Amino acid sequence: MSAVIPIKDVEYEHPLPGNACDTRHAWARVPVEPAPAERTALKDRIKRLLQERDAVLVSHYYVHPDLQDLAEETGGIVSDSLEMARFGRDHAARTLVVAGVKFMGETAKILSPEKRVLMPDLDATCSLDLGCPAGEFDAFCNRHPDRTVVVYANTSAAVKARADWLVTSSCALDIVRALSEKGHKILWAPDKHLGAYIQRETGADMVSWNGSCIVHDEFKAFELQDLMKQYPRAKVLVHPESPADVIALADAVGSTSGILKAARELDAREFIVATDNGMMHKLRTLNPDKVFIEAPTAGNSATCKSCAHCPWMAMNGLAGLAHVLETGANEVSVNPNLIDRARLPIDRMLAFTAALKNGQPAGALVPNIGAA
Ligand code: 13P
Ligand code: SF4
Repeated sequence: MSAVIPIKDVEYEHPLPGNACDTRHAWARVPVEPAPAERTALKDRIKRLLQERDAVLVSHYYVHPDLQDLAEETGGIVSDSLEMARFGRDHAARTLVVAGVKFMGETAKILSPEKRVLMPDLDATCSLDLGCPAGEFDAFCNRHPDRTVVVYANTSAAVKARADWLVTSSCALDIVRALSEKGHKILWAPDKHLGAYIQRETGADMVSWNGSCIVHDEFKAFELQDLMKQYPRAKVLVHPESPADVIALADAVGSTSGILKAARELDAREFIVATDNGMMHKLRTLNPDKVFIEAPTAGNSATCKSCAHCPWMAMNGLAGLAHVLETGANEVSVNPNLIDRARLPIDRMLAFTAALKNGQPAGALVPNIGAA
């Protein structure tokens, strides 16, 4: 695929010993921004191809604004990872094109094995997924046989297949709280900050894997406090993959969709936002009268810089999207032996969150400890 698409290699290195990032060498191939005329032509071509191929575009909030807008203009969706999964499962199109990262494409395939799932770049992954290899995770689970295994969506199909429950950041608190209330002790993976936040909020008995997100791990509390002094009326919105000292400064802690909701509902005109800056597009278009400022990722206490944008989300571009629709390249495949097992925890999450949404007693879907 890369032979026909101009790309520039980007290195994200964190060479200092003891730095905050567990992923020392993340890399990405970021597509070159097309010139205006080419951009318009690519968008027109993609719209035509989506129709011809009976395909629908499912984009994440962190991808390029062009891919977010295109999804909405063509009957697809731009959303968080939970709603992307639900939308892809329920849509009638025979082809799903997922603009996001690998785990989102795999989740779509697990939920709809009969559909063709394409991605602009199959190498777009996630530091949480990379940092939680299935073999080591299996051994970790085997050391804690008395614990219910709750796994974040940002993981491989093989890790999901080892889980009892799947969660995303938008439903993690509700699901872990419900499990804890039924007496479950939790084994959590892979994001250590999100795990610690859930533990603080729910009081659940948890052991955690030691993973982190290359983007959110870099938000800095010290510099954030400085910025808050510059914008004393601003409310602070934080994604819970961020470190605890950053979360402690938040007016609202939430998933991507939680941050959008808080920006809409909180009584403020200015917001400091600690999440991937791909979110700014939706935040600004939905709230044109409000001001959104990026939380700092670097400064006096910083050891590295992600510029608050996921290198793997940035691999999704218009040219790659047009290419996969044209050629059918970059089809996502999941080992058929894993699909049934990996689907179980995802289905549990989707049933739980659907019940919550409909005002039904979602906790009833969680078994008492000792039950099946
Ligand atoms: P959401 O589940 O909120 O979409 O977040 C996914 C993600 O990768 C956050 O960094
Ligand atoms: Fe993974 Fe972080 Fe990128 Fe989300 S922003 S896909 S958690 S590396």
